[in-house]
Amino acid sequence: MVKNGKYFIYTYGCQMNVHESEKIAGILFDKGYEHTNKVEEADVVVFNTCCIRESAEQRILGNIGAMKPIKAKNKNMIIAVCGCMTQQKNVEQNLKKKFPFINIVFGTNNIEYFGEYLDMYLKQKKYQAKIIENETYLQNPEFKTFVRDNPFNAYVNIMFGCNNFCTYCIVPFVRGREKSRPKQEIINEVKNLLSVGKYKTITLLGQNVNSYGNDFEDKSLNFAGLLKELAQIEGDFELKFMTSHPKDLSDELIDVIAEYPKISHAIHLPVQSGSNKILKMMNRNYTREHYLQLVEKIYNKIPDATLTTDIIVGFPGETDDDFAETESLIKRVKYSNAYIFMYSKRKGTVAEKMENQVPITVKRERINKLLAIQKNISNQHFKELIGTKQKVLIEGENQNYYISKTQCGKVAMIKKVENDFLNIGEFYTVNIVDYIGGNLYAKI
Ligand code: 5AD
Ligand code: SF4
Repeated sequence: MVKNGKYFIYTYGCQMNVHESEKIAGILFDKGYEHTNKVEEADVVVFNTCCIRESAEQRILGNIGAMKPIKAKNKNMIIAVCGCMTQQKNVEQNLKKKFPFINIVFGTNNIEYFGEYLDMYLKQKKYQAKIIENETYLQNPEFKTFVRDNPFNAYVNIMFGCNNFCTYCIVPFVRGREKSRPKQEIINEVKNLLSVGKYKTITLLGQNVNSYGNDFEDKSLNFAGLLKELAQIEGDFELKFMTSHPKDLSDELIDVIAEYPKISHAIHLPVQSGSNKILKMMNRNYTREHYLQLVEKIYNKIPDATLTTDIIVGFPGETDDDFAETESLIKRVKYSNAYIFMYSKRKGTVAEKMENQVPITVKRERINKLLAIQKNISNQHFKELIGTKQKVLIEGENQNYYISKTQCGKVAMIKKVENDFLNIGEFYTVNIVDYIGGNLYAKI
């Protein structure tokens, strides 16, 4: 194919965005563009943005600003901005005012039309602003070309949007209400991916995968049912999924995870806070007690489950006592890892208007305290793996080691032994022998 030029994509935020960048790359690939690692030599630069916290937005604005001198040297460079940030009120106009060199802005609902917007820009040489409000994107069944980032893991969207309106969160405003993809479409996509022969993990994506199918007329189809069917597809692969909302994680789902060996035992179950008062103010719709019960059920039925979580510190009204509840919860659950964030005010959310916003100094103190506690717990997890057998996927190598990942995502280095060649992209069962400097060491 005649090459049209080169593209570079900046991706910020969650796996959903990473996968959407794979779609955008697919669109550009279909148009004859090839990827470059150097932004200066790109003909098309895309910023796929995130607005979950102010810090993300600041970083993105800084990086867009840094394009000014680059574009000054290459006047034909096309700069496009898309993703969650652009779906917020007035952001498109403000972006254009602040960075007049932007050529195309589009939103989360019309990603698949990016190719058309690009054509229009090239034809008219005029700024294209394409934001569709109050909608939810649903992947077009005809959309096929993805340029996937990871050679072994393939993301598959199962649903889009969120109905939960946690009071701190901007996502329901920028991604719209929940829409699930038809089951057969998902099954076909997974089968097609596996037929390529190289993908070893399939990660199902949704803002709240546990409410998959709630928007279908046929109420008999839920996430547990979908997972069960996918887990019965032939082949040597592992099924992962994210993210689960504790209020909707059913006993049926726990049973399915426990029963089907292809389903990963790594479960991401964001708790956000350990205090009932704060959980209520966050509109999370579960209590600390319900959450802990859920964890107990999971550990009972899936003894080797590894749990990870998201936590927000400094939500409005969080007192020292509330924070202590979060501290005690993470000690009790013993997460293998926790993603801890300082609360960030988001425009238009309920929490933005709440009284008793917590000063930044207190937020910093609390996040540092939790990070230190979690570091100890995570280290304990690593140490407990010494002496166990683990199934790992070899993802790369250096001079002395194969670099593999355990099923719960931990790096395990396997020392190369003469005449013993392992294949990158294959699963092996290994003995974990040591844990040094943040890495596990393993032997076949
Ligand atoms: N401030 C801080 N963290 C937030 N998250 C979502 N919204 C905010 C906010 N306004 C966190 C939650 C969520 C994760 C993806 O980001 O913990 O689970
Ligand atoms: Fe945001 Fe809550 Fe929806 Fe997650 S479940 S995307 S935190 S509103």
